Amino acid sequence: MNSYDIAIIPGDGVGKEISDEAVKILDAVAEKYSFNVKIETFGWGCDYYLKHGQMMPDDMLTTLKDFDALFLGCVGDANKVPDHISLILILSIRKGFDQYVNLRPIRLYPGVETPIKNATPETVDMVVVRENTEGEYSATGGFFKMGTPDAVATQTAIFTQKGCERVMRYAFDLARTRKKLGDSPVGMVTNCTKSNALNYSMVFWDKVYEQVARDYPDIKTDMALVDALTMWLVKNPEYFDVIVASNLFGDIITDLGAMLQGGMGFAAGGNINPEGDYPSMFEPIHGSAPKYQGKGVVNPVATIESIRMMMEHLGEIEASREIETALSQILKEGRIKTRDMGGSHSISEMGDTIKEAILSNNK
Ligand code: IPM
Ligand code: MG
Repeated sequence: MNSYDIAIIPGDGVGKEISDEAVKILDAVAEKYSFNVKIETFGWGCDYYLKHGQMMPDDMLTTLKDFDALFLGCVGDANKVPDHISLILILSIRKGFDQYVNLRPIRLYPGVETPIKNATPETVDMVVVRENTEGEYSATGGFFKMGTPDAVATQTAIFTQKGCERVMRYAFDLARTRKKLGDSPVGMVTNCTKSNALNYSMVFWDKVYEQVARDYPDIKTDMALVDALTMWLVKNPEYFDVIVASNLFGDIITDLGAMLQGGMGFAAGGNINPEGDYPSMFEPIHGSAPKYQGKGVVNPVATIESIRMMMEHLGEIEASREIETALSQILKEGRIKTRDMGGSHSISEMGDTIKEAILSNNK
């Protein structure tokens, strides 16, 4: 029997309640597909900070490194700890475990409403492959003459050949497995860039994209400046298949992507270390929403979708498909709607209904 050690870091705000839903779904698929999950929960986050003066213990990475996968709820509570400090928790796992791909599938499940008119289940089916360890998030910079009228801040983006190349290869490999049809006959990788203005970093990024593309003659190449890309995503979502983006651009366009999917309550991501040298980490991409903490009103779909991605990553393909089927079915039926969907069902009513569907559907 396969067995997986899963670490859960609920984090702040609604992190605890979404983690309960994650566990519910993990247990359901484990039962149905006869594998074991051993869950260990770690209470790091802003409350930990208030007690210990840091978000997590110094040996966090050592503690987590032998797990098969990680689930991260959500981190941050600006009333307790400034965001740029609390978010070091997520960023140090992404960087420390070399999770250089932030994989963000963007699909609209039937039955889910979106504020974007051109978004339908038929038109929205793409994946953003976001660089996740360097670029604009390299945390290199400094302050100078602070507190004087001559105060200066620098923040240097770092783009390396290795860093760009490996995430682009991942994007092209992914396009090969998808081979989306739509209006393009083969898979396509759109290069999200800004080389018209960023004359070093993004010109370099484009060069690496061109180099990598040469190894994938079967995949269509494409490029869009990030500002224009936000417009095209709204206007012609059906055009896109795989989009490869730098860390910051990927961050920005995936919040827009979340709206194509029906809102932040539906968007999930995987922080992937493709080589498997370290565990990968799965998370809903919404924030911690401290104002909803303990109220049971948030949507667990993004969390459940991230567990689906975790199953796929672990090679439990049937379990992953089962979650997908249950999600589609329950969202399409439209009986259960959380607050963000215009309904009044609770997080656990949605989670329980999806769990029941998983357990009762035929294998
Ligand atoms: C995300 C988030 C994070 C990011 C924050 C919380 C640091 O916005 O995962 O998209 O910027 O990467
Ligand atoms: Mg973001």
